[in-house]
Amino acid sequence: MALLSSDLTTRPIGVFDSGIGGLTVARAVSRVLPHERLVYFGDTAHLPYGDKSTAAIQAYAVKICDLLLKQQCKVILIACNSASAAAYELVREYVGSKARVLNVIDPIVAHVGQQYAGRVVGLIGTKQTVNSNVYRKKIDDLDAGVQLRSLATPLLAPMIEEGFFDNSIAGNVIETYLSNPALEDIEALVLACTHYPLIKQQIAAFYQGQKEVLDASDVVAAHVQRYLTENGLAARPGSGPPVHHFYVSDFTRSFEESTRIFFGQQVHLEHYPLWE
Ligand code: DGL
Repeated sequence: MALLSSDLTTRPIGVFDSGIGGLTVARAVSRVLPHERLVYFGDTAHLPYGDKSTAAIQAYAVKICDLLLKQQCKVILIACNSASAAAYELVREYVGSKARVLNVIDPIVAHVGQQYAGRVVGLIGTKQTVNSNVYRKKIDDLDAGVQLRSLATPLLAPMIEEGFFDNSIAGNVIETYLSNPALEDIEALVLACTHYPLIKQQIAAFYQGQKEVLDASDVVAAHVQRYLTENGLAARPGSGPPVHHFYVSDFTRSFEESTRIFFGQQVHLEHYPLWE
């Protein structure tokens, strides 16, 4: 049975990620959709997903969807690139008509197809995202003549999580990765990981403004906005700002403190031990 009915507009958007990095996507969504209530789940017990097997990520994703469905989410946004690569198809099948499922890969693929037809585009992400080849397959399917050059950059996410995103150590790591011959001759670079918006400035500085640096979180947020409007699912303004909930599968004070760097303000994390 189809999902469209007017009361769905008041239901929240579920957003999930391997940890708190997906808050960059949640933040971009809440900026363009200020009336939407968000239920965020960060699987901090299993982070990082970037080094996990496809089967493991799929098992985590299904369990997280159970929680988000219990919370009556109208849309489930897989905010994590690694989980989008490993589990989108499976999650969509699992969720069926109970909610709409969106990922962070398709909006970027569509954007690249529209803006970079016939050109060479680079992409950086975790090992899971890059080795899955999902971006390459989807971009090739567009048949737009885009040549994709991808590079796994596994040091970047843990580096950013440790607060190293605006100093010389981060600068060295970024420079080393971006100087890799795999990324030679690109005209734009896709930041295909939740954490990378935090180093967008350094990446842009490395390229001295010569190449466009595509922040996936903005492209995804614009896609979610369009999707809700086109499907009659967008929330109407309420009497006050929406009350979001932020759950994590493992709580530490340091996760909570790090929400500030990813969400722009510190938010309260509720411990929801899905795996106990
Ligand atoms: N959220 C992950 C992604 O976007 C990065 C962190 C991790 O490896 O779990 O790929």
